[in-house]
Amino acid sequence: MREIDATSHRSGMCGTLRAEDTGRSVRLAGWVHRRRDHGQLIFVDLRDRTGLVQVVFDADISAESHRLAEDLRAEYVIAVEGDVVGRTPENVNPSLPTGQIEVKVRAVRQLNRSETIPFPLDEEGAASEELRLRYRYLDLRRPRYQRILALRHTVLLAARRYLDQRGFLEIETPILTKPTPEGARDYLVPSRVYPGSFYALPQSPQIFKQILMVAGFDRYFQIARCFRDEDMRADRQAEFTQVDIEASFVDEADVQELSEGLMESIFQAAGHTLQRPFPRMTSGEAMARYGTDRPDLRFDLEIGDVSHLVRGKGFRVFDDTLERGGVVRGLPWKGGAGVPRSQVDALAERSKGWGARGLAWIKLDGGKVTSPIARFLGEEVCRQVADLVGAGEGDLALLVADQPEPAARALGSLRLWLAERLGLLSQAAEASYRFLWVTDFPLVEWNEADRRYYACHHPFTSPQEADVERLESDPGTVRARAYDLVLNGSEIAGGSIRIHSQEIQDRVFGVLGISPEEARRKFDFLRQALSFGAPPHGGIALGVERIVMALTGSPSIRDVIAFPKTTSAADLMTGSPAPLEESQLAELSLRLARPAGAAPTPPSGQDPPTR
Ligand code: AMO
Ligand code: AMP
Repeated sequence: MREIDATSHRSGMCGTLRAEDTGRSVRLAGWVHRRRDHGQLIFVDLRDRTGLVQVVFDADISAESHRLAEDLRAEYVIAVEGDVVGRTPENVNPSLPTGQIEVKVRAVRQLNRSETIPFPLDEEGAASEELRLRYRYLDLRRPRYQRILALRHTVLLAARRYLDQRGFLEIETPILTKPTPEGARDYLVPSRVYPGSFYALPQSPQIFKQILMVAGFDRYFQIARCFRDEDMRADRQAEFTQVDIEASFVDEADVQELSEGLMESIFQAAGHTLQRPFPRMTSGEAMARYGTDRPDLRFDLEIGDVSHLVRGKGFRVFDDTLERGGVVRGLPWKGGAGVPRSQVDALAERSKGWGARGLAWIKLDGGKVTSPIARFLGEEVCRQVADLVGAGEGDLALLVADQPEPAARALGSLRLWLAERLGLLSQAAEASYRFLWVTDFPLVEWNEADRRYYACHHPFTSPQEADVERLESDPGTVRARAYDLVLNGSEIAGGSIRIHSQEIQDRVFGVLGISPEEARRKFDFLRQALSFGAPPHGGIALGVERIVMALTGSPSIRDVIAFPKTTSAADLMTGSPAPLEESQLAELSLRLARPAGAAPTPPSGQDPPTR
């Protein structure tokens, strides 16, 4: 028998063989996906990153290969040499791209063995996510992840090409740095050389990219890793990637035009054509109509304001709310009149979790009006209210009374719940891409608990010129030169035109309660940079994971990251974070306030799995 030299090159890939290759002699290598022993014939599905091909070990063709094939098990690594032959019609497998052919093996070599894998690779959901994260390299062998990570590569490559063509330079900025406020907690790294001092990992390259504009680079981008110690959600990780962009001598329209072109090239590379220009909406309008500043426009369903209809009708909750500057707004539940009362009550209960203080309803059924508040409003007003929110015969009108902000939040959640319940996201709609620019955000937001203002975007965002005079007198009404790009209800990018005058920057620090002393301590390098001829500039950052999630229909951000962390920020494969040795702590001049053992310990990647 002639052995295959393990170092010899493959002649091709498993998943790309087709009927046209019939008659060719090929050398392939990969993993044993499945093995079926039919005695004289042994069939192996051989897998590489391009897919599967059936290879056949026929004792008549090579007794030696057939004997070696008897030892093969799932996930063994082998190289084979053989001939591509057409399958007989009854053996064609239409569900496999290579299903018209198979490879008759002349020679095989076992390159490596595999332990029994802890979960099967061809059954989704057969193992817990914890187990799959621990053996991430096995999970990643699935075609789904091979496809997703290849697409992620395509997205980044398209972004680099597009920005390069427009004269943007990719410049790297430090990972060990000072805090860049983006609203999350910092990850901190102790300095050995300066005991008691810490680097911060960047929440974004924001300050550096602005300083690059001061330095005259004019057009910068970076595929930038960002680190934020915040609560994780389905679309948030502690560590994520931005396509980060900054340019000088630009206004909002320039950045938006560039970003649309960038999205167009990215989606084009992934096989989709986009409609441009993207629609625009102010954040105020988005909140009023959809109850969120990142509305999902794949379905209609708009909030209606009925305040003027219900005012002064004697229903205390509504009257009090309206008197204190609140609103009464609602949504229609199409077909809701037929829903049992218990389910409507359950929805009212659920709405409390969305921050609603209550949920009133009006039912239009069989020509009759039923509502717990009908005795206050009267039948005629009930009909008008229902009509205004878009509820007709057979429907329910659902109403929330509160201050505009909490009312919007509750109705925004209710809107998504209704869309889900009523199946408003048909399959076609689900696969469509609805972009929206949201603009005119407030510059700052009052936090009652901390009794201070916080920046809605970040502290370097420019106020709109017309509003600058109200910075000190009425900061809550100042609009920012900020914009978000929303795709199907997810915020996929955010940016702004920046402050390029030290004087305005200091005034904004003042509004945010950052004292001149604190501003000097934390941001003096930026303040100084602004004082040495900073050009007007602005930019944006795109969330790479969120774009790839949209393109692959992935419900979890963990699906689009090669080595993601759990919601408690642990990497189950490597077992990080990990405790330090005493000697390492000493070297960093650190002592633990809580002795080891008293604190929760991170999961270790080393433990044997529980099967
Ligand atoms: P922002 O904080 O809005 O802006 O972030 C920009 C985009 O990054 C994505 N993103 C995240 N993705 C995954 N996990 C996270 N934890 C996470 N946080 C944010 C979102 C978001 O739209 N420096 C500014 C940009 C600028 O002003 O140019 C910034 O970082 O898709
Ligand atoms: P009550 O008179 O207390 O029975 O309330 C009448 C209806 O008004 C009930 O269906 C309550 O759920 C609803 N309700 C109470 N508070 C609010 C509110 N803030 N917004 C909307 N509906 C409310």
